[in-house]
Amino acid sequence: MSTPQITLNDGRSIPQIGTGTWPLTETEVPSVVATAIEVGYRHIDTAAAYGNERGVGVGIRRSGLSRDALFVTTKIGNDHHGRKQTRQALEESLRRLGDDHVDLALIHWPMPQVGKYVETWETLIDLQQEGKAGSIGVSNFRPEHLDRIIRSTGVTPAVNQIEVNPVVAHRELRKATRARGIAIESWSPLGPSTNLLQDDTVGAIATRLGKTPAQVILRWHVEHGLIVIPKSASAERLRQNFEIFGFTLEADDNAALDGLDRGTPAFYSAQLAGDQN
Ligand SMILES: NC(=O)c1ccc[n+]([C@@H]2O[C@H](COP(=O)([O-])OP(=O)(O)OC[C@H]3O[C@@H](n4cnc5c(N)ncnc54)[C@H](OP(=O)(O)O)[C@@H]3O)[C@@H](O)[C@H]2O)c1
Repeated sequence: MSTPQITLNDGRSIPQIGTGTWPLTETEVPSVVATAIEVGYRHIDTAAAYGNERGVGVGIRRSGLSRDALFVTTKIGNDHHGRKQTRQALEESLRRLGDDHVDLALIHWPMPQVGKYVETWETLIDLQQEGKAGSIGVSNFRPEHLDRIIRSTGVTPAVNQIEVNPVVAHRELRKATRARGIAIESWSPLGPSTNLLQDDTVGAIATRLGKTPAQVILRWHVEHGLIVIPKSASAERLRQNFEIFGFTLEADDNAALDGLDRGTPAFYSAQLAGDQN
Protein backbone atom coordinates (compact mmCIF):
# COMPACT_ATOMS: atom_id res chain seq x y z
CA MET A 1 0.00 0.00 0.00
CA SER A 2 1.49 3.37 -0.93
CA THR A 3 1.11 6.24 1.54
CA PRO A 4 0.26 9.87 0.84
CA GLN A 5 3.22 12.21 0.57
CA ILE A 6 3.53 15.74 1.93
CA THR A 7 5.44 18.21 -0.25
CA LEU A 8 8.05 20.13 1.69
CA ASN A 9 9.07 23.77 1.10
CA ASP A 10 12.28 22.59 -0.62
CA GLY A 11 10.26 20.70 -3.26
CA ARG A 12 11.03 17.26 -1.85
CA SER A 13 8.34 14.96 -0.48
CA ILE A 14 7.99 12.95 2.72
CA PRO A 15 5.66 9.98 3.37
CA GLN A 16 2.93 11.22 5.71
CA ILE A 17 3.38 8.25 8.05
CA GLY A 18 6.68 6.96 9.36
CA THR A 19 7.75 4.61 12.09
CA GLY A 20 9.18 6.03 15.31
CA THR A 21 12.10 4.16 16.88
CA TRP A 22 12.46 5.62 20.38
CA PRO A 23 13.01 3.96 22.89
CA LEU A 24 13.93 0.81 20.94
CA THR A 25 17.45 -0.47 21.63
CA GLU A 26 20.11 -1.45 19.08
CA THR A 27 19.06 -5.09 19.55
CA GLU A 28 15.29 -4.52 19.37
CA VAL A 29 15.21 -2.05 16.50
CA PRO A 30 16.41 -4.16 13.50
CA SER A 31 13.42 -6.52 13.54
CA VAL A 32 10.96 -3.66 14.20
CA VAL A 33 12.34 -1.66 11.25
CA ALA A 34 12.34 -4.70 8.95
CA THR A 35 8.75 -5.56 9.98
CA ALA A 36 7.63 -1.95 9.50
CA ILE A 37 9.07 -1.96 5.98
CA GLU A 38 7.35 -5.28 5.28
CA VAL A 39 4.04 -3.75 6.46
CA GLY A 40 4.56 -0.84 4.04
CA TYR A 41 6.22 1.98 6.01
CA ARG A 42 8.73 3.85 3.87
CA HIS A 43 9.75 6.47 6.44
CA ILE A 44 11.86 5.81 9.55
CA ASP A 45 12.56 8.30 12.34
CA THR A 46 15.68 7.93 14.46
CA ALA A 47 18.17 10.21 16.28
CA ALA A 48 21.71 10.06 17.57
CA ALA A 49 20.23 10.41 21.08
CA TYR A 50 18.20 7.20 20.69
CA GLY A 51 21.40 5.15 20.54
CA ASN A 52 19.89 2.85 17.91
CA GLU A 53 21.07 4.17 14.50
CA ARG A 54 23.30 1.16 13.90
CA GLY A 55 20.31 -1.13 14.44
CA VAL A 56 18.13 1.01 12.17
CA GLY A 57 20.73 0.52 9.40
CA VAL A 58 20.74 -3.25 10.05
CA GLY A 59 16.92 -3.34 9.86
CA ILE A 60 16.90 -1.41 6.57
CA ARG A 61 19.43 -3.77 4.99
CA ARG A 62 17.62 -6.81 6.40
CA SER A 63 14.38 -5.67 4.72
CA GLY A 64 16.01 -6.11 1.31
CA LEU A 65 14.27 -2.94 0.05
CA SER A 66 16.30 -0.54 -2.02
CA ARG A 67 17.52 2.40 0.08
CA ASP A 68 16.13 4.79 -2.57
CA ALA A 69 12.60 3.66 -1.69
CA LEU A 70 12.99 4.82 1.91
CA PHE A 71 12.93 8.15 3.75
CA VAL A 72 15.28 8.17 6.77
CA THR A 73 15.44 10.95 9.38
CA THR A 74 18.06 11.49 12.05
CA LYS A 75 18.71 14.32 14.49
CA ILE A 76 21.69 16.30 15.76
CA GLY A 77 21.94 15.75 19.52
CA ASN A 78 21.89 18.46 22.18
CA ASP A 79 25.57 17.84 22.98
CA HIS A 80 26.62 18.49 19.35
CA HIS A 81 25.60 22.10 18.74
CA GLY A 82 28.22 24.26 16.99
CA ARG A 83 29.91 24.05 13.57
CA LYS A 84 32.54 21.36 14.10
CA GLN A 85 30.32 19.33 16.41
CA THR A 86 27.31 19.30 14.05
CA ARG A 87 29.40 18.18 11.09
CA GLN A 88 30.96 15.47 13.21
CA ALA A 89 27.54 14.43 14.61
CA LEU A 90 25.97 13.94 11.16
CA GLU A 91 29.04 12.11 9.84
CA GLU A 92 28.97 9.78 12.85
CA SER A 93 25.22 9.18 12.39
CA LEU A 94 25.83 8.27 8.74
CA ARG A 95 28.62 5.89 9.74
CA ARG A 96 26.34 4.19 12.27
CA LEU A 97 23.46 3.99 9.78
CA GLY A 98 25.89 2.63 7.16
CA ASP A 99 24.74 5.27 4.68
CA ASP A 100 26.10 8.22 2.73
CA HIS A 101 23.09 10.48 3.34
CA VAL A 102 19.84 10.85 5.27
CA ASP A 103 16.65 12.18 3.73
CA LEU A 104 16.05 14.57 6.61
CA ALA A 105 18.45 15.90 9.27
CA LEU A 106 16.89 17.79 12.19
CA ILE A 107 18.26 19.83 15.09
CA HIS A 108 16.77 17.77 17.95
CA TRP A 109 16.22 20.69 20.42
CA PRO A 110 17.08 24.39 20.05
CA MET A 111 19.03 24.45 23.34
CA PRO A 112 18.85 28.28 23.64
CA GLN A 113 20.79 28.00 26.91
CA VAL A 114 23.77 26.75 24.84
CA GLY A 115 23.23 29.51 22.28
CA LYS A 116 24.60 27.76 19.19
CA TYR A 117 21.52 26.74 17.24
CA VAL A 118 22.20 29.33 14.50
CA GLU A 119 25.69 27.89 13.87
CA THR A 120 24.18 24.40 14.00
CA TRP A 121 21.61 25.44 11.39
CA GLU A 122 24.28 27.05 9.17
CA THR A 123 26.23 23.78 9.29
CA LEU A 124 23.16 21.75 8.32
CA ILE A 125 22.76 24.06 5.31
CA ASP A 126 26.36 23.26 4.28
CA LEU A 127 25.82 19.52 4.85
CA GLN A 128 22.68 19.63 2.71
CA GLN A 129 24.62 21.33 -0.10
CA GLU A 130 27.21 18.54 0.17
CA GLY A 131 24.43 15.93 -0.31
CA LYS A 132 24.64 14.46 3.19
CA ALA A 133 21.02 15.42 3.94
CA GLY A 134 18.23 15.66 1.37
CA SER A 135 16.12 18.00 3.48
CA ILE A 136 16.95 19.83 6.70
CA GLY A 137 14.75 20.92 9.55
CA VAL A 138 14.34 21.35 13.26
CA SER A 139 12.52 19.83 16.20
CA ASN A 140 10.98 21.41 19.29
CA PHE A 141 11.58 24.94 17.93
CA ARG A 142 9.36 27.80 19.08
CA PRO A 143 8.49 30.68 16.71
CA GLU A 144 11.33 32.86 18.03
CA HIS A 145 13.86 30.09 17.35
CA LEU A 146 12.44 29.60 13.85
CA ASP A 147 12.58 33.32 13.12
CA ARG A 148 16.15 33.64 14.34
CA ILE A 149 17.55 30.92 12.03
CA ILE A 150 15.46 32.10 9.07
CA ARG A 151 16.57 35.71 9.56
CA SER A 152 20.21 34.73 10.01
CA THR A 153 20.49 32.43 6.99
CA GLY A 154 17.55 33.08 4.66
CA VAL A 155 16.88 29.33 4.75
CA THR A 156 13.57 28.11 6.19
CA PRO A 157 13.50 24.65 7.79
CA ALA A 158 11.47 22.09 5.83
CA VAL A 159 10.05 20.52 9.00
CA ASN A 160 9.47 21.29 12.69
CA GLN A 161 9.01 18.00 14.60
CA ILE A 162 7.02 18.75 17.76
CA GLU A 163 4.82 16.91 20.24
CA VAL A 164 1.29 16.95 18.86
CA ASN A 165 -1.76 14.88 19.72
CA PRO A 166 -5.36 15.85 20.50
CA VAL A 167 -4.54 16.35 24.22
CA VAL A 168 -1.25 18.22 23.68
CA ALA A 169 -2.38 19.97 20.51
CA HIS A 170 0.11 22.90 20.43
CA ARG A 171 -2.37 24.92 18.35
CA GLU A 172 -0.47 28.21 18.49
CA LEU A 173 2.88 26.61 17.70
CA ARG A 174 1.31 24.66 14.84
CA LYS A 175 -0.24 27.84 13.46
CA ALA A 176 3.05 29.74 13.73
CA THR A 177 5.01 26.87 12.15
CA ARG A 178 2.56 26.59 9.24
CA ALA A 179 2.55 30.38 8.74
CA ARG A 180 6.28 30.14 8.01
CA GLY A 181 5.70 27.42 5.36
CA ILE A 182 7.13 24.66 7.55
CA ALA A 183 5.62 21.15 7.64
CA ILE A 184 4.79 19.70 11.05
CA GLU A 185 5.72 16.23 12.21
CA SER A 186 3.86 14.98 15.30
CA TRP A 187 5.95 13.17 17.87
CA SER A 188 4.13 11.17 20.56
CA PRO A 189 1.12 11.22 18.18
CA LEU A 190 -0.80 8.71 20.34
CA GLY A 191 -0.26 10.77 23.49
CA PRO A 192 1.53 8.06 25.50
CA SER A 193 2.09 10.47 28.40
CA THR A 194 -1.69 11.05 28.62
CA ASN A 195 -4.66 8.65 28.77
CA LEU A 196 -5.65 9.49 25.19
CA LEU A 197 -5.83 5.87 24.02
CA GLN A 198 -8.32 5.15 26.84
CA ASP A 199 -10.32 8.35 26.36
CA ASP A 200 -14.12 7.86 26.09
CA THR A 201 -14.52 10.32 23.20
CA VAL A 202 -11.87 8.49 21.19
CA GLY A 203 -13.39 5.13 22.17
CA ALA A 204 -16.90 6.12 21.07
CA ILE A 205 -15.69 7.29 17.64
CA ALA A 206 -13.60 4.12 17.24
CA THR A 207 -16.56 1.87 18.10
CA ARG A 208 -18.86 3.70 15.67
CA LEU A 209 -16.34 3.46 12.82
CA GLY A 210 -15.19 -0.10 13.61
CA LYS A 211 -11.60 1.15 14.08
CA THR A 212 -9.20 1.09 17.02
CA PRO A 213 -8.58 4.16 19.22
CA ALA A 214 -5.03 4.42 17.80
CA GLN A 215 -6.39 4.46 14.23
CA VAL A 216 -8.86 7.23 15.10
CA ILE A 217 -6.12 9.35 16.70
CA LEU A 218 -3.69 8.83 13.80
CA ARG A 219 -6.49 9.68 11.35
CA TRP A 220 -7.05 12.97 13.24
CA HIS A 221 -3.36 13.81 12.55
CA VAL A 222 -3.69 12.94 8.86
CA GLU A 223 -6.82 15.06 8.47
CA HIS A 224 -5.00 17.98 10.13
CA GLY A 225 -2.25 17.70 7.48
CA LEU A 226 0.31 16.48 10.01
CA ILE A 227 3.09 13.96 9.39
CA VAL A 228 2.93 11.14 11.99
CA ILE A 229 5.62 8.85 13.34
CA PRO A 230 3.97 6.42 15.78
CA LYS A 231 6.25 3.87 17.40
CA SER A 232 5.25 0.28 18.07
CA ALA A 233 7.33 -2.75 18.88
CA SER A 234 4.41 -5.02 17.93
CA ALA A 235 3.90 -6.24 14.35
CA GLU A 236 0.12 -6.24 14.84
CA ARG A 237 0.10 -2.61 16.05
CA LEU A 238 2.54 -1.50 13.32
CA ARG A 239 0.04 -2.89 10.82
CA GLN A 240 -2.94 -1.34 12.59
CA ASN A 241 -1.27 2.10 12.75
CA PHE A 242 -0.48 1.95 9.03
CA GLU A 243 -4.11 1.23 8.03
CA ILE A 244 -5.47 4.75 8.41
CA PHE A 245 -5.92 5.87 4.82
CA GLY A 246 -9.10 3.93 3.96
CA PHE A 247 -11.58 5.84 6.13
CA THR A 248 -12.42 9.41 7.15
CA LEU A 249 -13.61 11.16 10.29
CA GLU A 250 -16.70 13.34 10.22
CA ALA A 251 -16.42 17.05 10.99
CA ASP A 252 -18.08 16.41 14.39
CA ASP A 253 -15.48 13.73 15.19
CA ASN A 254 -12.62 16.11 14.44
CA ALA A 255 -14.31 18.83 16.50
CA ALA A 256 -14.74 16.43 19.45
CA LEU A 257 -11.09 15.36 19.23
CA ASP A 258 -9.98 19.01 18.94
CA GLY A 259 -11.94 19.59 22.16
CA LEU A 260 -9.62 17.26 24.11
CA ASP A 261 -6.79 19.83 24.03
CA ARG A 262 -5.56 20.51 27.57
CA GLY A 263 -2.93 23.07 26.56
CA THR A 264 0.80 22.65 26.75
CA PRO A 265 2.10 20.71 29.76
CA ALA A 266 4.38 22.82 31.94
CA PHE A 267 7.36 20.53 31.35
CA TYR A 268 7.30 21.04 27.58
CA SER A 269 6.62 24.75 27.78
CA ALA A 270 9.72 25.07 29.90
CA GLN A 271 11.78 22.85 27.60
CA LEU A 272 10.64 24.71 24.52
CA ALA A 273 11.43 28.03 26.13
CA GLY A 274 14.86 26.74 27.09
CA ASP A 275 14.27 27.26 30.79
CA GLN A 276 15.49 23.75 31.61
CA ASN A 277 18.39 21.62 30.52
N1 LIG B 1 11.82 15.08 18.37
C1 LIG B 1 11.63 14.71 19.62
O1 LIG B 1 12.01 15.42 20.58
C2 LIG B 1 10.93 13.42 19.90
C3 LIG B 1 10.48 13.13 21.20
C4 LIG B 1 9.82 11.92 21.42
C5 LIG B 1 9.62 11.03 20.36
N2 LIG B 1 10.08 11.30 19.10
C6 LIG B 1 9.87 10.38 17.96
O2 LIG B 1 8.47 10.17 17.83
C7 LIG B 1 8.19 8.77 17.87
C8 LIG B 1 6.81 8.53 18.41
O3 LIG B 1 6.66 9.09 19.70
P1 LIG B 1 6.46 8.20 21.02
O4 LIG B 1 7.12 6.88 20.83
O5 LIG B 1 6.82 9.06 22.16
O6 LIG B 1 4.87 8.05 21.10
P2 LIG B 1 3.75 7.27 20.27
O7 LIG B 1 4.30 6.66 19.06
O8 LIG B 1 2.61 8.19 20.16
O9 LIG B 1 3.32 6.13 21.31
C9 LIG B 1 4.11 5.01 21.54
C10 LIG B 1 3.43 4.13 22.60
O10 LIG B 1 2.13 3.73 22.14
C11 LIG B 1 2.04 2.31 22.08
N3 LIG B 1 1.29 1.99 20.86
C12 LIG B 1 1.69 2.11 19.57
N4 LIG B 1 0.71 1.74 18.72
C13 LIG B 1 -0.34 1.37 19.49
C14 LIG B 1 -1.65 0.90 19.20
N5 LIG B 1 -2.07 0.73 17.95
N6 LIG B 1 -2.48 0.61 20.25
C15 LIG B 1 -2.06 0.78 21.53
N7 LIG B 1 -0.85 1.23 21.87
C16 LIG B 1 0.01 1.52 20.86
C17 LIG B 1 3.47 1.81 22.04
O11 LIG B 1 3.57 0.54 22.64
P3 LIG B 1 4.08 -0.78 21.81
O12 LIG B 1 5.44 -0.47 21.29
O13 LIG B 1 4.06 -1.84 22.85
O14 LIG B 1 3.06 -1.00 20.72
C18 LIG B 1 4.20 2.87 22.88
O15 LIG B 1 4.04 2.58 24.25
C19 LIG B 1 9.33 8.19 18.72
O16 LIG B 1 9.46 6.81 18.59
C20 LIG B 1 10.51 8.99 18.18
O17 LIG B 1 10.94 8.43 16.93
C21 LIG B 1 10.71 12.50 18.87
